[in-house]
Amino acid sequence: MYLTPEEEKILKGERGATYQKAIEILAALGDIYDADRLIPIKSAQIAGVSYKTIGEAGLEWISDLKGKVAVPSILNPAGMDRGCWKEMGISRDFAAKQEKIILAYEALGVKAECSCTPYAIFDNLAGSGDHVAWSESSAISYANSVIGARTNREGGPGALSAALIGKTPNYGFHLDENRQPDVLVTVESKLHDSDYGALGYIVGAMVGDKVPFFKLRSIPSKDELKSLGAAMAASGAVALYHVSGATPEAGKYEMPVENITIEDWQIKEIYSKEKPDLIAFGCPHASVDELENLARLLNGKRVKKEVWVCTSRSIKDKYPLLIKRIERSGAKVFCDTCMVVSPASERFKCMMVNSGKAHKYVPNLCGSKSIMATTEDCIAEAVSD
Ligand code: F3S
Repeated sequence: MYLTPEEEKILKGERGATYQKAIEILAALGDIYDADRLIPIKSAQIAGVSYKTIGEAGLEWISDLKGKVAVPSILNPAGMDRGCWKEMGISRDFAAKQEKIILAYEALGVKAECSCTPYAIFDNLAGSGDHVAWSESSAISYANSVIGARTNREGGPGALSAALIGKTPNYGFHLDENRQPDVLVTVESKLHDSDYGALGYIVGAMVGDKVPFFKLRSIPSKDELKSLGAAMAASGAVALYHVSGATPEAGKYEMPVENITIEDWQIKEIYSKEKPDLIAFGCPHASVDELENLARLLNGKRVKKEVWVCTSRSIKDKYPLLIKRIERSGAKVFCDTCMVVSPASERFKCMMVNSGKAHKYVPNLCGSKSIMATTEDCIAEAVSD
């Protein structure tokens, strides 16, 4: 990959070891994926924040870095709510290490807003056609598909390196030719809310890392697209999809020859109605509309099981009355974290979720059984004996 004279100097260590390491990582990625050059990015979203996932080695690596990010950069969810980690059942030792990780990122100039839905917090991070380096899979999918921005599936170190240098290698989804759909997915049933997560759970496993093009009988909302993309990124490795009539690049490409059809019974088969000991919402982090819907469904009711709602701190701080309406039912609203990346969920045996992504990850990453149900059925379960 070609490096400019300025980039060559960084590679030789003229700006210090942190920037040298960062450009080494970018150059190595560029060489592996045959990028021609580095291109400027508008923002970075950095995964590898939870102490549960990166452990002591990750903490040490981040703590040793010295420098400042060159573009607006935001963190992925951490392993705990920074405000009420005790209420989550997080140990003092874990909390101290988690704080150290976040502070180390902050020292690099990364915003300590720990969320997988950065686009719901800041509207200057990514716009149509912007190149970005994001690393949380649902955020990547949303950036590429719903916003029309361009990012590869960055790992944590790749995204942090891109943030420090302000550039990323030009390959993959940054290029027009790789944004072409590979497989047409026709869906026969009318979908609503969590059905999109169920659809994503099914389709991701079928298409792997291909680019699906959906023909649906209903036009999904932004939140429904968020659920669809998150689930496909988890059960498969989908980083970009198009939906006829709903996503910005859907009309731009030729229709693929390969096609699959998803029938109503396949969606229904994902749902089940067993008894959970934790019911968790907010994967990806709940939007204001999703919180509003939960508040409406919980209105005048009292939950009889542990219920978590995960969202971003910005939204929790900005809408205190909405949060109170949910908490009045006994449900807990957590931010900075989620049911998957926090070790706090590991003490539960069976988690009920309305998210296709959480449904995929909970068994492996939390060690508990996962049940997927519609949002309405999750609430019905939460308030029943
Ligand atoms: Fe976000 Fe956690 Fe789900 S990071 S997408 S809420 S697994």
